[in-house]
Amino acid sequence: MNLIKHVAIIMDGNGRWGLKYKKSRNLGHKEGLKTVEKIIEQTVKKKIKFLTLFAFSTENWKRPKKEINFLFNLLENFLIKKTNELNKNQIKLNIIGNKKIFSKKLKKILLNSEQITKYNKKLQINLALNYGSKSELIDAINSLKRKKIAFTEKNIDKHLHTKNTPNPDLLIRTGNTKRLSNFLLWQLAYAEVFFEKKLWPDFTISDYNRVLKNFQKIKRNFGNI
Ligand code: IPE
Ligand code: IPE
Ligand code: MG
Repeated sequence: MNLIKHVAIIMDGNGRWGLKYKKSRNLGHKEGLKTVEKIIEQTVKKKIKFLTLFAFSTENWKRPKKEINFLFNLLENFLIKKTNELNKNQIKLNIIGNKKIFSKKLKKILLNSEQITKYNKKLQINLALNYGSKSELIDAINSLKRKKIAFTEKNIDKHLHTKNTPNPDLLIRTGNTKRLSNFLLWQLAYAEVFFEKKLWPDFTISDYNRVLKNFQKIKRNFGNI
């Protein structure tokens, strides 16, 4: 049986869910947040140590301003309300992606949540915000070049935003779309990939359990036989 240390998730399908049931993409995002909370709780229960969640990509800036503002408001309110609870549950929050362009207010909220939860050991959540795998790799390579460090696999690993995190064992993408959308391209080199038909707000604990169980049964070769 395969051990699970790290689960990565592309939480896709909020907008479609919202349009279908509430006539508003934004209400889909709000509903999707409930799934986030349930999945975090279940990940702790399963004693999985790392959970990386794709929340906003470098490409998502192409969306209408109103939707972008709604998403970041939702995130700010969530962190303001829930950081203490995350902390109480021994969960560490780590942001991956480029924070530079965020507002002063958001940067402060993110930093605060990271600081408060910094020493927690039960689960590390890597929350991907303004994250793009290609730009992460370019930054890593430039930084190695600047420091005159060799471009080896280990050194590149150490200069990615996911440094100190094992590579994901599995990737789940909800929303019935089979693509990676510039997510963890390097880190997912040997991950098992599960594309789920359900939209993210409809994804349940039992769907999650089923995927985890199926993952555990896979024969992982890593090039061997
Ligand atoms: C959530 O799903 C992912 C985010 C970028 C927040 P989407 O908003 O992409 O939902 P769909 O794919 O349009 O349904
Ligand atoms: C990927 O979903 C990004 C997140 C889940 C945050 P998208 O919905 O943005 O992906 P594309 O554009 O359909 O590939
Ligand atoms: Mg989408």
